[in-house]
Amino acid sequence: MINGSYTAEWKRTLYCGEPRIADAGRDVVLNGWLRARRDHGGIIFIELWDHTGVTQIVFNPEIVPDAHARAKELRSEYVLAVRGKLRGRPEGMEKLSIATGEVELLAENFILLAPSQLPPFDPDNAESVNEDLRMTYRYIDIRREGMQKNLRLRHRAVQFTRNYFDRNGFLEIETPILTKSTPEGARDYLVPSRVNPGDFYALPQSPQLFKQLLMISGCDRYIQIAKCFRDEDLRADRQPEFTQVDLEMSFIAEEDVISLIEPYLSGLFKETIGADVPTPMPRLTWREAMERYGSDKPDLRIGMEMVDLSPVFAGGENPFAGMVSDGGTVRGLRLPGGGSLSRKEISDIENRAKELGSAGMANFQLKDGVLKGPLVKFLPEAARVELLRLSGLTADDVFFVMADRSWTKACSMLGQIRLETARDRKLAGDGWKFVWVTEFPLFEWDEDEKRWSAVHHPFTAPMDEDVEYLSSDPGRVRSRAYDIVLNGTELGGGSIRIHNPETQSRAFEALNISPDVARERFGFLLDALSFGTPPHGGIALGLDRLVMMLCGAKSIRDVMAFPKNQKVQCPLTGAPSGVELSQLEQLYILSTAPDERAELE
Ligand code: AMO
Repeated sequence: MINGSYTAEWKRTLYCGEPRIADAGRDVVLNGWLRARRDHGGIIFIELWDHTGVTQIVFNPEIVPDAHARAKELRSEYVLAVRGKLRGRPEGMEKLSIATGEVELLAENFILLAPSQLPPFDPDNAESVNEDLRMTYRYIDIRREGMQKNLRLRHRAVQFTRNYFDRNGFLEIETPILTKSTPEGARDYLVPSRVNPGDFYALPQSPQLFKQLLMISGCDRYIQIAKCFRDEDLRADRQPEFTQVDLEMSFIAEEDVISLIEPYLSGLFKETIGADVPTPMPRLTWREAMERYGSDKPDLRIGMEMVDLSPVFAGGENPFAGMVSDGGTVRGLRLPGGGSLSRKEISDIENRAKELGSAGMANFQLKDGVLKGPLVKFLPEAARVELLRLSGLTADDVFFVMADRSWTKACSMLGQIRLETARDRKLAGDGWKFVWVTEFPLFEWDEDEKRWSAVHHPFTAPMDEDVEYLSSDPGRVRSRAYDIVLNGTELGGGSIRIHNPETQSRAFEALNISPDVARERFGFLLDALSFGTPPHGGIALGLDRLVMMLCGAKSIRDVMAFPKNQKVQCPLTGAPSGVELSQLEQLYILSTAPDERAELE
C-alpha cells in the first residue's frame, strides 16, 4: 500500500505542531504519524503527529475523492506525507487546548511512507499501560507527549550544564568505562578480558579515581556527563546504569564547590522550568539534620522538627529511663492537627514504628489542658511541664515519643515516621527546598561485617580537627563531605579529598584494608598522590534525579530513553541474555547459574 517515494516535493515545510491561525491560506506539506482518524459523514479527519505536536487534517470526498478513498485505509501510527492548504477551523470547532487547535489542513494529496502494525497501545493513552509492555515497545512509548517532553527537558539540562561549566573554566574529559573497581558502596559490574584470561575489568561506579588523577595531572577543573554502573537493588530513583554531572577542582575548599553549584542549580531551574531558587541555600551539619529531621536527606518542605526529650525521661520510674541511663536517647515529634486522629490511626503509626524496629514509642495529647497518654502516670509534675514546654503540644496535636539505645537509630526511625505521616496527611508544602548537609561522619560501623566502612568513599578527607582520632576513635571522625538535597532526595554528593598518601594509607587502615590489599587495589592512586598532588575536591550530581525533579516525574525510568525494569532487564532488547558456550569458552568462563549446573552434572 506504500504509494509514493519520499521525493523532495513531499518534504515537510512545517512541523505538525507549528501551524497557527496566521498561516491560514498557506500551502504546506506535513510529515508524521497518524494518531487518530474519525469518519464524519463522508469527511475523514486525521490527526498527524510529530515530536512538536499534532495538526488536524481534513479529507473531503467532494474535493479530493481519490485521496479521500485512500485515506479510508489509513490506520494508527501509519507514516504519511500530506500536502494541502491550511485554513481556520469552522467557528465552534476550534480546540483551544492545543497550539494548532484553531487551524486544520485541507488535504489535497498524500503519500503513505510506511504502514504500521496495530500498536500494542495508544501512545496518547499510555500512562496506565503496564510498564513492561511500554518498555518492550519503548519506541512507541517515546511517541507520547510526556516522554518527548521529558527527553527535551533532559537535553536542555545537559546543554545548560555543559555551557555553565565551560563558562567557568571546566574541561570536559572522558574517562574509561573498562576500568578497575572504584568503591562507591555497590557491587561492580564485571567484564571478562579475553586477551587476559581470568582477568576482569569493572565498569566504573563513578569516575572518582580518574578525576582525582586528572587533578594530579594539572587539569585544574574537570567536568564529565559521566555514565556510572552500580549493581544494586533498584528503587524509584535508582538505575543500575545512570548519569552523573561529575566534576573536580584543584586548590579549593568546600566553599568553592558550594559557591559554584548553587548558581548552577538555580540557573538550571530558571532556564529549564522557570522556577526561582533562592541562594544561598540553607546548610545543616549531618548531626543537626539527624537531630531535627531524622534524616541525612531531610525534606524541608515538611515543617515538623524533632526534639530531644532525654532530660524529661532521665531518672525516675518511666519505661524509657533505663535506655537514657544506658546512653540511649528519647526523641519527640509533634504532629500538628494529630489531635483528631482516631485511636486506630494512632496505633497504626505506633505499629509502623515497631515495624521500623522501634522498641518503644508512646504518644501524648493535651485534653482540657491536661496531659494525657500511657506514660503520663510515670512522669512527675516537673517532667510533665518540661515535656509540654519542649514539645509545644496544643489541644490540636498529638506528640509521639520514641526511645532507643542508639541515637542514630532513634533519630532515623522517628524521622521516617515524620516523613510518612506528613506524606499521608499532606503536610508537606510546595516548592524547591534545597539544603546542604555537611560534616558527615567519615566512617560508619558495619554490623554485618563487623568493621568500619566509608560513609562516602575512602578518598574523602577527614576534618582537620578530627584527624587525630583516625586510628583511636574512627566513629568520632567527621569528614569534609557534603551532599546537596532537594525535597528529601539526595541529588548529589562530594567531598574534599585526601591529598597525601600517608593520610590515605591511614584511612585504608581504619577501614581494615591491609597495606597489601590497598597496594593491590589502589597502588596507582597511592603512587600518584606521592607525585605532587594539589588540594582538590569535587562533587557528582545525579543527572537522572535532577531531571526527574525538573520534570516532576515519579520514576527515574520516565526520564531515561531506554531504562532497565525492576528486574534489571531491558524488555526491548531482552538484555541480559544467555550467550553461546563458544563465547564463554573464549573468555575462559563457565557459568555456575543453577539450571546450567544441573545440565553439567
Ligand atoms: P555518590 O555515590 O553520592 O557520589 O553519587 C552521586 C549522585 O549520583 C546519583 N546516584 C544515582 N542515581 C541513579 N541511580 C543510582 N543507582 C545512583 N547512585 C547514585 C545520586 C547521588 O547523589 N564519586 C562520588 C562523587 C564525589 O565524591 O565527587 C559519587 O559517585 O544523585
